[in-house]
Amino acid sequence: MTRARSPRWLRWPSDGTAETAAPRFAFGADYNPEQWPREVWPEDVRLMRQAGVNLVSLAIFSWARLQPGPEEWDFGWLDEIMDLLHENGVAVDLATATASPPPWLTAAHPEILPVTRTGETVWPGARQHWRPTSPLFRAHALRLVEAMATRYAGHPALAAWHVSNELGCHNVYDYSEDAAEAFRAWLRARYGTVAALNAAWGTAFWSQHYTDWAQVLPPRLAASHPNPTQQLDFARFSSDALAAHLRAEREVLRRLTPGVPVTTNFMVMGGTKGMHYPSWAAEVDFVSNDHYLHPGPQGLDELSFSANLTGNIAGGEPWFLMEHSTSAVNWQPVNRAKRPGELARDSLLHVAHGADAVCFFQWRQSAAGAEKYHSAMVPHAGADSAVFRSVAALGRLLREELAPVAGSRRAPAEAAILFDWESWWASELDSHPSARLRYRQEALDWYSAFLALGVRADVVPTGTPLDGYRLVVAPILHVLPSALAKELTRWAEGGGHLVTTYFSGIVDEHDHVWLGGYPGPLRELLGLRIEEFGPLLDGETVTLEGTGPGEGAPAGTLGCALTGTLTGSLWTDEITVTDPATEVLARYASGPQAGRAAITRRPVPGGGSAAYVSTRLGPEGLPGVLAPLLGAAGLGSELPPQLRGLVEPAVRTAGDARYLFLTNRTDRPIELPPLEGEFLTGSPEVLPPHGVAVLRRPPAAPGRARP
Ligand code: GLA
Ligand code: GLA
Repeated sequence: MTRARSPRWLRWPSDGTAETAAPRFAFGADYNPEQWPREVWPEDVRLMRQAGVNLVSLAIFSWARLQPGPEEWDFGWLDEIMDLLHENGVAVDLATATASPPPWLTAAHPEILPVTRTGETVWPGARQHWRPTSPLFRAHALRLVEAMATRYAGHPALAAWHVSNELGCHNVYDYSEDAAEAFRAWLRARYGTVAALNAAWGTAFWSQHYTDWAQVLPPRLAASHPNPTQQLDFARFSSDALAAHLRAEREVLRRLTPGVPVTTNFMVMGGTKGMHYPSWAAEVDFVSNDHYLHPGPQGLDELSFSANLTGNIAGGEPWFLMEHSTSAVNWQPVNRAKRPGELARDSLLHVAHGADAVCFFQWRQSAAGAEKYHSAMVPHAGADSAVFRSVAALGRLLREELAPVAGSRRAPAEAAILFDWESWWASELDSHPSARLRYRQEALDWYSAFLALGVRADVVPTGTPLDGYRLVVAPILHVLPSALAKELTRWAEGGGHLVTTYFSGIVDEHDHVWLGGYPGPLRELLGLRIEEFGPLLDGETVTLEGTGPGEGAPAGTLGCALTGTLTGSLWTDEITVTDPATEVLARYASGPQAGRAAITRRPVPGGGSAAYVSTRLGPEGLPGVLAPLLGAAGLGSELPPQLRGLVEPAVRTAGDARYLFLTNRTDRPIELPPLEGEFLTGSPEVLPPHGVAVLRRPPAAPGRARP
């Protein structure tokens, strides 16, 4: 996987060239001055200076303003803003402004508008109403990119290019004729012949055999379940189509402004699954991400999970938090304001996972338009507000106390969660044993278990080398091409400890089931075989009983035992243990599999092991299972016992320095025991509710990670 470079490569105008300048945190927001009269602009830059803003994203939704007609251009206002920002020491992440096409374009060319699965047109009136595969849209967009790049190539405020905005936020799936044609071209490139397509899609089923490419369609509204491989390929294609748009804009920028780094803001968060960001990372000069907190019991865990995954998609390099919110958003069913301390906590938890930029949507809260109830750095109340004071305090912290941390890398952990986009896509397709399975939720539940135990774990995309990890959890690794199965087996035989779950190892890359009993290519490694799935009905649960130490294996050989009772939901499997060495850690005590193995672990010759969890245990049940598995792998928390679960540890490193971030995960104050190292954030004896402390520590002993 080609890796993106880091935001260290940003061109900081006042620092000379990026390569020689000391790294520093970027701090700022999306800036939409066109929403305000000119008189507001000097006030904006005055407040930016006061808040320590040093970078803004500009012109994201300015197409209609910059090009009021096909042959009319109006750059005067943007020239003025660019100059004003530069004079005030604010660098610009300049958007290509192609995110939302202007009314004159869609009125003249409604054929650029996306079409839904059910054949409806997605009309203008909101934003991002364009087909990723429309040649006409592409031509208009690239003309604008060319105009922007030509005009601002030499502008001293220009630090980076921001391609479009949140590509795919609203338009990832388009079922139009343009999409159909591009899908066929994509399939031809993938399969070469119609015969190969037929084989991959299993078209012997339901009389779907194709005899010509022209017959192939996107999975539009159909009479029953559309072909699953067609759906999976359409997901792959849709992500690739947007990546192709990203590349097309980037190529214009690279040609006209070769020294200016290019990024686009990803959406590694919540349920955003349409874009395969691990492959997109190779397309940009540095990775950027947007994240919005979903308040709720696992909200903060989800933030940490997303930041962690983003950092690993960026290959461990620093990355750019392009958007998050100072307080409430406007698009959740109920939009809660952040409580005191949460603004800084959320920002710093991203920093803890490698962000070198803390930016918000947006600078000044809109008075009109669809996002007027979305918080901003300058709220409706103005600068005399708790939000603005918190913003300014955060700006100071990043500029002063935390300055040494900028440019450092995420320190890898010794445990990881394998996050597999293909399995996310495929495991949630329709006509499966259960429609209730949620891939990302299962992965997040395991992450919550690591947090509850105070153990650091990386969330890594498939393709990341596993050799540095002692334990890897691969939840619902549903799509298992034989190469990946071999790689996991090789790694476990080399001493790695694999943990996997229900509905893993079921299909190959074409979504064809591995035959002979589940989980296909992992049967031998796990030492078990499953003949039937046992999904549970809504509200149905089963009881699991830990078997105590060492059942079914010579006493003491594993040192890994489960005791007590657990509750499973969603899924069970009818497991037959096939290898006498496989230890049954828990059995079903109720439900259809009563008496059968529920959680197993097989020691793998060579020192590793392979464990299987056949039901959903959730964030409440998983810590009790994970703890002994970690113990058997020689891993544990690096935190003092009284902090475990209450505080999240995260580490960044640069040269000899290690920076330990301790984030209070609770809304209570937490007493800190004496800790080795020097605090960059004062010397707190107590970590306040939502507080974050950062310690600089001497280098770790070789071969042993610790915070
Ligand atoms: C996204 C967009 C922004 C804004 C925010 C609101 O991240 O990129 O333009 O709409 O959501 O949360
Ligand atoms: C109907 C159809 C079959 C099959 C089954 C599945 O009976 O006739 O082709 O789809 O449903 O339950």
